[in-house]
Amino acid sequence: MAILVTGGAGYIGSHTCVELLERGEEVVVLDNFSNSKPEVIENIMKITGKQFKVYNGDILNKEDVLKVFSENDINEVIHFAGLKAVGESMENPLKYYQNNVVGSLILVEVMQQHGCNKIVFSSSATVYGAPEKVPVSEEFPLDPENVYGRTKYMVERILEDLAMADKNFSVALLRYFNPVGAHKSGLIGEDPEGTPNNLMPYIVGVASEKFECLRVFGDDYETRDGTGVRDYLHVVDLADAHLKALDKIRGENGTKIYNLGTGKSVSVLELIKAFEKSNNIKINYVVTSRRPGDIAECWASPKKAKEELGWSADKTVDEMCRDSWNYAKRKIGDK
Ligand code: NAD
Ligand code: WQD
Repeated sequence: MAILVTGGAGYIGSHTCVELLERGEEVVVLDNFSNSKPEVIENIMKITGKQFKVYNGDILNKEDVLKVFSENDINEVIHFAGLKAVGESMENPLKYYQNNVVGSLILVEVMQQHGCNKIVFSSSATVYGAPEKVPVSEEFPLDPENVYGRTKYMVERILEDLAMADKNFSVALLRYFNPVGAHKSGLIGEDPEGTPNNLMPYIVGVASEKFECLRVFGDDYETRDGTGVRDYLHVVDLADAHLKALDKIRGENGTKIYNLGTGKSVSVLELIKAFEKSNNIKINYVVTSRRPGDIAECWASPKKAKEELGWSADKTVDEMCRDSWNYAKRKIGDK
């Protein structure tokens, strides 16, 4: 019996594969490598000392998905495969609806055909849009403000409806806040192509002198220092949540929804300072105007995940900064 990890070569998927393999689970990866590199697979094997099957295929291609299910005894799926760039999703909405929504539909159709009825889905805090207050808990109204967020919202509803119609189905919808950091080995981590959209990869880009200066998008928000406030969590803690979510849906049917964050708020300037202090590197930055579509603050109430999954994200912001930089340094060393 194996767990299919779609998008298992990606940032969060690769860290989750490591945790699954270290727990002794059997893993099969399906990834089209549109946003990841095959060397990630080698590095997962290096970290864990374990081999597993990898399919270079696309969830949009039903034949690819059928092949995985017919050649393996898949009884659970962790579904990471998806596109995630907010800006690109607004410019090219059909690409996002196609990949994220149609791709997920094809995947669950094949799951149903093969009697596989357990799925953990990578959703996002972005489904809440601009929350009325913080911390954000799971029953808050959903109002995604960009196409990417709407694809996550739609897939959540599709899976929820499926679990309503088929009482044997179990679904975990995991709404991630801001994952950062990397595995302590420095062998896997976040490696965006081109100019990063997110804060931590950009800070790392400045630290490695790829970019001269970080632009801080606004210091006139109603927050403690005027800059945007978020809930950053270490990707290894996040990976661990997937194992806990699997355990949960192994025992109970229906849909379970969890916010995954630390519950702690960190501003842009605080993250810059933490990075500087933990890595002893100066980060040049300049304050510019706000980024359109940004919200002032967003952090999770992690209470439900703690109570129902026994999970909490305990790694510190310093560890997140150190591990992000440790991974980047190794990449620079390789070049
Ligand atoms: P990632 O881009 O590093 O990983 C996604 C993986 O899926 C990549 O390896 C990519 O090649 C693969 N993929 C994409 N489309 C595919 C397709 N059609 N068929 C097969 N493989 C495909 O992203 P990530 O940061 O690891 O995110 C994983 C999931 O978590 C995504 O669904 C993302 O939307 C969601 N998420 C990410 C964040 C974040 O900040 N990183 C936050 C919330 C939610
Ligand atoms: C964090 C803070 C910025 C870059 C996005 C997606 C969301 C989710 C996570 C997938 C904000 C500021 C950023 C920079 C800056 N992904 N910033 N300079 O906006 O919380 O969420 O990633 O689901 O869907 O929207 O994360 O890292 O982009 O920004 O000042 O160069 O850093 O304004 O306050 P965000 P982020």
